[in-house]
Amino acid sequence: MDKMRVRGGKTLSGKVSASGAKNSALPILFSSLLAEGEHVFHNVPRLVDVNSTAQLLEHLGCQTEFKGNTFRVNVSRPKEMEAPYDLVRKMRASILALGPLLAKYGHAKVSLPGGCAIGTRPIDLHLEALKELGAEINLDSGYVFGKTKRLKGTSLIFESVTVGGTENILMAAALAEGRTIIENAAKEPEIVDLANYLNKMGAKISGAGSSIITVDGVEKLKPAEQDIIADRIEAGTLLIAGAITGGQVTVDKCRPHDLDALISKMRESGFKIETTETSMTVQPASNWCGVDVTTAPHPGFPTDLQAQFMSLMTQATGTSVITETVFENRFMHVQELSRLGADITPKTRVAIVRGTRGKLKGAPVMATDLRASACLVLAGLIAEGETVVNRIYHLDRGYEGMENKLRALGAEIDRIA
Ligand code: UD1
Repeated sequence: MDKMRVRGGKTLSGKVSASGAKNSALPILFSSLLAEGEHVFHNVPRLVDVNSTAQLLEHLGCQTEFKGNTFRVNVSRPKEMEAPYDLVRKMRASILALGPLLAKYGHAKVSLPGGCAIGTRPIDLHLEALKELGAEINLDSGYVFGKTKRLKGTSLIFESVTVGGTENILMAAALAEGRTIIENAAKEPEIVDLANYLNKMGAKISGAGSSIITVDGVEKLKPAEQDIIADRIEAGTLLIAGAITGGQVTVDKCRPHDLDALISKMRESGFKIETTETSMTVQPASNWCGVDVTTAPHPGFPTDLQAQFMSLMTQATGTSVITETVFENRFMHVQELSRLGADITPKTRVAIVRGTRGKLKGAPVMATDLRASACLVLAGLIAEGETVVNRIYHLDRGYEGMENKLRALGAEIDRIA
């Protein structure tokens, strides 16, 4: 299993480009199941999760080709409408095959994804909403079995905001009969990207990016071509990497507007950040303050940047109270940061971080999930001596060539096979 070795103490500087968004690419790749023929996607990040999606699409009878950052899917009617456990357990987002298969072919068998390190992460909201669209849903032997003649448009309200749930229903409703109105929809930029692709395929969706989305179902969709938007979480992580080392780093080819919540918290902490439409630059800083952060669905502070922001706060002057409201168990990085010498008290959903500027010391640590692994790499950048991050495969699920990007900015980082 690969590990990442980081020698702390280098000030990062220079320019780095963001890759395409994993969380946009995955649902859009699954949406291709809605239309037979060849779909072409550009700016697709080369990630383990994208490979897992390709594997599942191939299992469903599609042909895929991934060259550079261009991903082609040739969709034909699957022989079996099944997403098996072995493929789904590798990647929870596989549940996004359910909506398209049901809408297009009228039946699907998708393994239940089960829990994961950051919480139980149920899919009850996806299933309830599909039932409201008229699908017959049964759970048996660890699988979801879905059946319908044709889904029927309806008005539905998500009890709480769910990104994946909104995506599954958007895809399902695109081919349903009549109008679907989704209230309390997720407003993430990735939802807008998916809706844009569905509309390119011929869907009639309006309101994506707001909490009410209207979908007028159509009979048929056709394949199309799309550029995946920049990964806001990767871009934010790279900005924090520059900030935590006190360096001047520009993140290019990104969408700073998607990161308003992070940028505003970093400014409140004392960083100077300049933005253009497509880039953001953090200026060198030697002193920043602890600020409080509460994660929330978009446009709130992203839960996917909570761990990385915590690393930054370990180097602040003063205390920061970090509250996690999206997932119930997303503080596993606290213990690992503590191994490096951070002073953090975790409560149930709140972590109190007392800044210990310049006091982290390298140690072996363990990545417990995707974003936690990024936070440990960030802490390693400023810890004295060597930090070895174990179980780095988590990082490979969601960051394209992270160590190369950081090395190009001046970090001393390498992968140990
Ligand atoms: C997506 C992102 C993930 C991000 C998360 C929140 C992808 C591939 N993943 O995950 O990186 O951290 O959004 O921004 O895009 N919930 C239920 N029942 C459901 C569905 C969700 O209780 O049926 C709960 C979850 O357990 C969680 C909360 O709702 O506590 C939000 O989850 P959701 O927005 O669905 O996250 P994902 O789509 O899984």
